[in-house]
Amino acid sequence: MIIEAIVSTRKDNGELNFAPMGVRFKESERIELIPFHSSDTYKNLSANRSGVVNLLSDVLPFVKCALSDHLPEHSMSAASYGALLAVADEAIEFTIDTVEDRKIKSIMSGPVISRVKLKTPRAGINRANGAVIEALIAVTRIGVLPDDEIEGTIKRSRNIVDKTGGDDEREAMDMIESYDERRRR
Ligand SMILES: Cc1cc2nc3c(=O)[nH]c(=O)nc-3n(C[C@H](O)[C@H](O)[C@H](O)COP(=O)(O)O)c2cc1C
Repeated sequence: MIIEAIVSTRKDNGELNFAPMGVRFKESERIELIPFHSSDTYKNLSANRSGVVNLLSDVLPFVKCALSDHLPEHSMSAASYGALLAVADEAIEFTIDTVEDRKIKSIMSGPVISRVKLKTPRAGINRANGAVIEALIAVTRIGVLPDDEIEGTIKRSRNIVDKTGGDDEREAMDMIESYDERRRR
C-alpha cells in the first residue's frame, strides 16, 4: 500500500525542503520512496541519505506545500534529518541504505530510525480527502498527462468536495482550480 506523505529533506546548504511523495512501509520497519530524478527530494536524499516522512490526515497542507511557497510550521527532527510538521499526525525519521536506479526515477529504501506521534489521526473515511489528492496529483503532472484528463479529474474532484468536504477541502480545491486556470492563461 502506498501512503501519501509530506517528505522533508535538507538541501546542501542546510535549507529544508518539503514535498508530497508516496511512501511504502515495508517489513522490518523499513520505508521505500520513489522520487523522480528531477525532484529536489531525489537530489537531497542522494546527497544526505536521510529525511523525515510526515503522515497527515488533513489534505490542505499537501496543496499548500505543492502549489505555493508556503513554509509550514515545523521543528527540526531529533537527528536533524529534516522537519517535523506541526500539522502531522506522526513524523518518521529514516535513512536510505539501498538505491535502485531506473530511467527517470530511483527506488530508495532504508530503515525507520524514530517515530514521533504528534496528534491522534481523525477517525473515519472522508471522500473529499481522496478527491483533493487526485486533483492535486493531476495538476502536478501538467505537461505529462493529457489536458482533458487533468480537467476531468478536477471536475470530478470538485463535485465530490462540494458534496462531502468541509471548509479546508473546499479551500484546497479552490487553490487547485486557480493554479490550473493560471497555467492555462
Ligand atoms: C500526493 C502526491 C504524491 C506524489 N508522489 C510522488 C512520488 O512518489 N515521487 C515523485 O517524484 N513525485 C511525487 N509527487 C510529485 C512531487 O511532489 C512534485 O514533483 C514536487 O514538486 C517535488 O518537489 P521537490 O522538487 O521539492 O522534491 C507527488 C505529488 C503529490 C501531490
